[in-house]
Amino acid sequence: MPGTILAFDTVSYDGETDEVVLIDQTKLPNETAFLRISDTAEMEAAIRRLSVRGAPAIGVAAALGLAAAARRRRFAGREAFDAWFSEAAERLAASRPTAVNLRWAVDRMERAARANPKAPPEEIGWLLLQEAKAILGEDIAVCRRIGEIGLGLIHDGAGILTHCNAGKLAAVRYGTALAPVHLGAERGMRFRVYVDETRPLLQGARLTAFEMLEAGMETTLLCDNMACDAMKRGWIDAVFVGCDRVAANGDTANKIGTSSVAVLAKHFGIPFYVMAPTSTVDPGCAAGKDIVIEQRPPEEVASLWYRERMTPEGVKIYNPAFDVTDHGLITAFVTEYGLVRPPFGEGLRRIFEQKRAGGAF
Ligand code: MRU
Repeated sequence: MPGTILAFDTVSYDGETDEVVLIDQTKLPNETAFLRISDTAEMEAAIRRLSVRGAPAIGVAAALGLAAAARRRRFAGREAFDAWFSEAAERLAASRPTAVNLRWAVDRMERAARANPKAPPEEIGWLLLQEAKAILGEDIAVCRRIGEIGLGLIHDGAGILTHCNAGKLAAVRYGTALAPVHLGAERGMRFRVYVDETRPLLQGARLTAFEMLEAGMETTLLCDNMACDAMKRGWIDAVFVGCDRVAANGDTANKIGTSSVAVLAKHFGIPFYVMAPTSTVDPGCAAGKDIVIEQRPPEEVASLWYRERMTPEGVKIYNPAFDVTDHGLITAFVTEYGLVRPPFGEGLRRIFEQKRAGGAF
C-alpha cells in the first residue's frame, strides 16, 4: 500500500551506505520519520528510547546495527575487532532485559563471529551482515506463517481485542498478534479491531490505532479500563496479543496490562491467543517468576503526555514495562510451527524438537 506506513519495513538495511533504517516510532502517529543508524551506541540509544520497539523488531535492529558498525569501523586486527564486538554485543543485549529476542539475535551474531575465528575484520563484517539479513528474512517469514495460522482462528468481521502494539511496527512486516489482520486484509477480509490504549507509553493509541486504520480496519480505541465493558457487550470474539518472553511452562511476559486482559477474557469465556515466534520462547527460563521485568522511568507515568505534571511530587510511581500472564489464562500459542494448546510445557518442547531437527514451518 504505497504512501502508507505499511509500504515500509519497520527495520531495513541500506547496503549503499551501510546504515540501518528505522521508522522512528517516537514520532508516530503525527509524523512518519526515519532514522539512519550506523553504530551500536546509536542503536542502543534508539532501542532504549523506543524509536524501535517490539520484541522481534529490536532483535533485528540490534543484529543489523552490529553488522553496520562492524563494516564501517576500522580495526587494527582480529583481536581488536573481537574486543570491540564483545562489548558492543553485551551492551545491546542488555539495553532491554525482558524481550528475549534481543539476546537471541545478539547471540546468533556472536556465534557467527566466533565460527570464523581466523577471518579478518573486513570479512567478518560481511559474514555478520549475512547473518543479520538472515534474521530479518526469517522474521518476515515467521510472522507471515503466524498470520496464516492465526487467520484460521477468526472469521471475516470478527471483533479482535489487542493490547500494546504487536503489529508490523513491532517486527519487520506483518507483526505477530496483528499478522492475521494484515494477511486477512490482503485477502479482502475486514475485522473490528479494539485497541487498548496501553498506558503509560500508549503503544496502542499511537501505533496500533494508526497501523490498523492504515490497514483499512474498523478501529476502536479503548482506554485500558474499558476492555471489561467491551467484552461484556459481546463485541470481542478473541484477544490477540504478542509476547516478549515465554517461559518453558507457558507463563508469558508481555506489555504491562496484558495479564489483566487475560483475566477478563477468562471471565467472559473469550479465547486469549498469544502469537509467539519461537525466537520469543525461552526454554532456559522455567516459569514466569524467573523473567526479569524491565522497570522504566517514573516520568513516563507522571508527565510524558501532559502539559504539566499530573500527579503530586513525592508520590511513589511503579512503572514496570511488562507483566506476566499465568499460563492457565492462555488458550493457545500461535507459533510458526503451529498452535500449541495446553499442557504448554509438553507442547512447547515438541515445537523446539521440531525446530532443532531443522523442520520447516
Ligand atoms: O515496550 P514495547 O513497546 O517494546 O513492548 C512491546 C510489547 O509488549 C509487544 O507486545 C511484544 O514485544 C510483542 S511484539 C510482536
